[in-house]
Amino acid sequence: MVGMAGSLSNTILLHRFKFLLPFSSLHTKLITLSSKHKLGKSQFQFIRTQLSANYSTTQFNSHKTQIPNMQNGDDLIILGIETSCDDTAAAVVRGNGEILSQVVSSQADLLVQYGGVAPKMAEEAHSRVINQVTQSALDKANLTAKDLSAVAVTIGPGLGLCLRVGVRKAREIAGSFQLPIIGVHHMEAHTLVARLTDRNLQFPFVALLISGGHNLLILARDLGHYIQLGTSIDDAIGEAYDKTAKWLGLDMRRSGGPAVEELAREGDPKSIRFKTPMLHHKDCNFSYAGLKTQVKLAIGSKDIDAEIPLSSASSHDRRSRADIAASFQRVAVLHLEERCERAIEWALKMEPSIKYFVVSGGVASNLYVRARLDQIAKNKGVQLVCPPPSLCTDNGVMVAWTGIEHFQMGRFDPPPPADEPEDTVHDIRPRWPLGEEYAEGRSEARSMRKARIHPSLTSLIQGSAQPLS
Ligand code: KG4
Ligand code: ZN
Repeated sequence: MVGMAGSLSNTILLHRFKFLLPFSSLHTKLITLSSKHKLGKSQFQFIRTQLSANYSTTQFNSHKTQIPNMQNGDDLIILGIETSCDDTAAAVVRGNGEILSQVVSSQADLLVQYGGVAPKMAEEAHSRVINQVTQSALDKANLTAKDLSAVAVTIGPGLGLCLRVGVRKAREIAGSFQLPIIGVHHMEAHTLVARLTDRNLQFPFVALLISGGHNLLILARDLGHYIQLGTSIDDAIGEAYDKTAKWLGLDMRRSGGPAVEELAREGDPKSIRFKTPMLHHKDCNFSYAGLKTQVKLAIGSKDIDAEIPLSSASSHDRRSRADIAASFQRVAVLHLEERCERAIEWALKMEPSIKYFVVSGGVASNLYVRARLDQIAKNKGVQLVCPPPSLCTDNGVMVAWTGIEHFQMGRFDPPPPADEPEDTVHDIRPRWPLGEEYAEGRSEARSMRKARIHPSLTSLIQGSAQPLS
């Protein structure tokens, strides 16, 4: 296809597009502009190659990182920064997967106080500790920022105010030491960390990502290429665990999930017959709002006083709370099991070579969840892969590792200017899908939701490979 720009010489085109260089997300911006200017495929490729080459020589060679060394895992050292929700985390990871340091500062006290994440409070808490957390990650790795090859930072999805704190810090470090920067998708990071802990894990695979804000089932076809098989139409499972813990008066200092898991061990999981959500919807989407309401009603009917801490409750009261926790957990996980079974079937139809089923995100640290999903994996002839609990909950390692995977594919942004003004508007993506929806799995309930803000990570990356037809 020869577009409007077809008559312009490549030199003129290059001159026109050169202004892209100092900005982030070179590829993304180039795609948008190339369709606006109606560039032909060969013109697009020419501009992209020239700009990348220009960047490599003018920006990279003036610093210690050389593009030819990118593939060498031992030489590559990346700092990962995560502030998308209520944990401020940083880690330093080597390209060969060696974790040099990992630091997490959680906002547990705020969670107890507000019973959930309050964005403004969370932003302030991130701002208070971000310098200390990043410095401590470098100190523990026995490194200084000068030793880094690049900085990776979560740019979405998550709370805009919180994401901004991490992005500012990452750009400050990258700007001062002229390091490339990699914008990371939080849910991709939860997925890919499984490839750090299990080096046999090859694409394609199926993944269930379960956290406080997300329930996602995906087919991971390749790095940056995901098909969304299902997602939450209202609350995520972690949110249901957190509210159940709060209403049962449990200790929220480690977040609600672990407290419910622990108490559930004492209870009878069949004592209360909660309804499994969405059984009549034969898709892979999730809903936890109804189950939350059922739990609240059950707690009301048992006269449980959440003001009385569990440690002071009578044995009868404790037993009632444990029965609710166990019954909630059984049904919350039954919902996962039913959806995962279908998702693995769908994925195997598209990619019969799939061997692995990854379960990650905060809720994946739950042992009951792991045991039940292990059974589903076995029934379907695939192997369950779960990262260790400290890498399932939000952490900087997953961000650094995702940065490494993309950096090695040549996907990164140039170093920001050293003196970037305070009021610079950054590329932050609070609502950012990971992949396109699987057409057969699209549900009415889902498609009626609000419009998304950003094109999916997959469409950006795949689009950069094939910009025009
Ligand atoms: O991935 P994550 O650390 O942060 C988000 O991205 O949301 O997940 C946090 C969620 C919280 O809702 C927390 O209650 C839940 O993970 N969680 C658990 C367990 N550990 C953390 N849920 C159930 N059982 C657990 N053991
Ligand atoms: Zn998370």
